[in-house]
Amino acid sequence: MIDQSHFIIAIDGYASSGKSTLAKDLAKYLNVAYVDTGAMYRAVTLYLIEEKIDFEKLKSWNGVLKGINISFKRNSKTLKNETFLNGESVEDEIRSLRVSSKVSEVSVIKDVRDFLVRQQRQMGKTISLVMDGRDIGTVVFPNAIAKFFVTAELEVRAKRRYLELVNKGSGLTFNQVKDNLQHRDIIDTTREISPLKKAKDAMEIDNSNISVAQQLDMAIKHVEGCLK
Ligand code: DC
Repeated sequence: MIDQSHFIIAIDGYASSGKSTLAKDLAKYLNVAYVDTGAMYRAVTLYLIEEKIDFEKLKSWNGVLKGINISFKRNSKTLKNETFLNGESVEDEIRSLRVSSKVSEVSVIKDVRDFLVRQQRQMGKTISLVMDGRDIGTVVFPNAIAKFFVTAELEVRAKRRYLELVNKGSGLTFNQVKDNLQHRDIIDTTREISPLKKAKDAMEIDNSNISVAQQLDMAIKHVEGCLK
C-alpha cells in the first residue's frame, strides 16, 4: 500500500502514446490529482490562434502571457477533468486539428515554456500528483519519485488517435492524423529547449502490444517499488 504523504509521478512520452490514459489510471489508483501539461500548451496555442497573434514574429511575450489564465475543473456530470482558458471550457477545442497542427511550434518558445513550467511546479508544491507531458521527468520535476517514458509504434498511435477522433465525429483522414503525429514527434524530440527524451531513471513502457490494464499493472508495481 502506498502511504507517502507528498509525491510526484512524472510521465513523458510521444504524442498519442497512451501516456494520458496511464496518468489518469495511475492518479485514480493512487487517489491523487492528475495534470495534463499538453492541455496547457494547447490552451496557449488556442489563445494565440483566437487572438490572431503572429507568434513567430512576436518580440515581447509579457503582455500576451498576462492575458492567459489556465485552470482545470472536474465536470460534475461527466466526472472528467476539463481545461479552462480564461474561465471558459476549451476541452474539445484544444484537441482540434487547428490547435494540434500549431501546438508543437508554440511549445518551442522559451517564454511560453517558462510561463507554463512555473505553474506546473507550483501545482506540485503542496499536493501529490501524476503529471504527464514531454519534459516532466527531465525538467519540471527531475526529483519525481517515479518516472515513466511511454512509447508505441507510430502506426499504432495513429490508429488509436484516428479512432478517437472518428468517434467524436471528426472528418479527418487516417493519413492526416498520422502526419500530424509524425510532425509533432520530430519537433518535440529535436527542439532546443527541453526536448522529449527519456530521463535516465525513467521506466520505459512500449504499449504497442499490451493492454491498458497490463500497462497500469506494470506502472503500479514500479511506483510501489519507488515508494518503498
Ligand atoms: O500531450 P499532447 O499531445 O496533448 O501535447 C501537445 C503538445 O504540447 C506536444 O506536441 C508538445 C507540447 N508539450 C510540451 O512541449 N511539453 C509538455 N510538457 C507537454 C506538451
